[in-house]
Amino acid sequence: MSDCSVQNIPAVQANVGEVNPQYRLNYHLMGERGWINDPNGFIFYDGKFHLFYQHNPYDSVWGPMHWGHAVSADLVSWEYLPIALTPDMPYDKDGCFSGSAIEKDGKLYLIYTGHVTKPSEGGIDFVQQQCVAVSNDAITFHKLAQNPVVRTEDIPNLASKRDFRDPKVNFINGEYFMVLGSNDGAGRGQALLYTSADLIHWRFRNILAKSDGTLGDNWECPDLFPSGNSFVFMVSPQNVDPDVYQNTNTSVCMVGDLDVENGTFISKYACRMDYGFDFYAPQSTVDSNGRRIVVAWMNAWGSENPTHTLRHGWAGAMTLPREVVIRRGSICFQPISEIEQYRRNPFTMRAFELEGTVSLPVGGDSYELVLSLEPKDAAEVGLKLRVGDGEETLIYYVSNESTVVFDRNQSGIGPKGVARAPVKLDNGSLTLRVFVDRCSVEVFLGEGETVMTGLIYPSEQSTGIESFAKGTAFVRDLRKWDLKI
Ligand code: FRU
Repeated sequence: MSDCSVQNIPAVQANVGEVNPQYRLNYHLMGERGWINDPNGFIFYDGKFHLFYQHNPYDSVWGPMHWGHAVSADLVSWEYLPIALTPDMPYDKDGCFSGSAIEKDGKLYLIYTGHVTKPSEGGIDFVQQQCVAVSNDAITFHKLAQNPVVRTEDIPNLASKRDFRDPKVNFINGEYFMVLGSNDGAGRGQALLYTSADLIHWRFRNILAKSDGTLGDNWECPDLFPSGNSFVFMVSPQNVDPDVYQNTNTSVCMVGDLDVENGTFISKYACRMDYGFDFYAPQSTVDSNGRRIVVAWMNAWGSENPTHTLRHGWAGAMTLPREVVIRRGSICFQPISEIEQYRRNPFTMRAFELEGTVSLPVGGDSYELVLSLEPKDAAEVGLKLRVGDGEETLIYYVSNESTVVFDRNQSGIGPKGVARAPVKLDNGSLTLRVFVDRCSVEVFLGEGETVMTGLIYPSEQSTGIESFAKGTAFVRDLRKWDLKI
């Protein structure tokens, strides 16, 4: 076994103090410095939430993947722990890729993909195999001597020998279920299912689920969990149609049944998990009250990261954790209730007709805003956020399209674009719950049936908030709180 806790990587130490705070988020998890992507090993263990993440501690771009580690009692305030996994073994020397965590006999196990690049032979230029590390104190992890526990030889026919990654392990029906991202080698994404009694010996069971041809050519970061009498399967397909999904990589969620005998998932309905720009590789966990919580990487592959180009020393963050609930037959994602403990300086406006643009007497760069309105005869109605200096980020309802638009074309520096989400009015009214942080906006519509997440990079002075209507709308209620940790 190897002790892989790295607390004193010299380059990491050398970087201390070089992080520019300008766009650092106030209530979202980021790496201490360097780059982060996918959430990994999300678990409620020994009374605390542990969240690991894909991490390059040396630079603010993707690179040799380590697992960063943070803990929290409430999913809002995080404390950093030493890096949990570092790529230091022959089977993971080019990266400890994404994976999950599970508790067994009181110990914390991490199951991850060991990534090794090699000179290309017949198109196979890297090898991905599944590995396990264990800890007694949830700080220092030891890689097992049996690694890799699921090897290239264990990949079935009809599955890529190359893309074989992101194990998510769950205890279902008295066994450990591992779902893995894969593709069929012929252009369709799929997830593979393996089962085990001890986390070390794994048996291939079946292709759990597969794209019908519209859901990408490779699947990353699958997750399978029970919800009531159903099962939920989440996955992040690559190379989907960006005209449909905003980006070429997206995250979808399916609700259906698990055929435990055959090892297959039968989807009854599917939905997009987020209609914005920056939401990928979500992972879930369950807390001691049975609450299912999902967190995703708040970024997108291929998107510009101003915190890197401006040499701010960091890039990447997690979304606000979201509770998964089924409401009126739809799967909804709601901000975790703990965030409400951080509300400060309440501001309210009630029952007024909105025509044209109204500037609010309050502003900021880290707040929650809830707007409940009836569009009435307005063609468009909504909010302008982070307003100032020619900058604004628009979130508004378009009556004749029944959509909500998130427009970041005038937001500031960084990536641009307009995202649209379908929305149904509820008895003629619409509720928008918006979370703004230093460089992010997350919009929850209704009860969380639809969510839109995006990164924006306005100047520090752009803190104005406006509400506007083209035509006349009725605002039932507008509430705002600063969010302070
Ligand atoms: C998803 C992903 C995973 C992989 C990891 C590497 O964003 O591509 O499939 O394990 O990132 O950092």
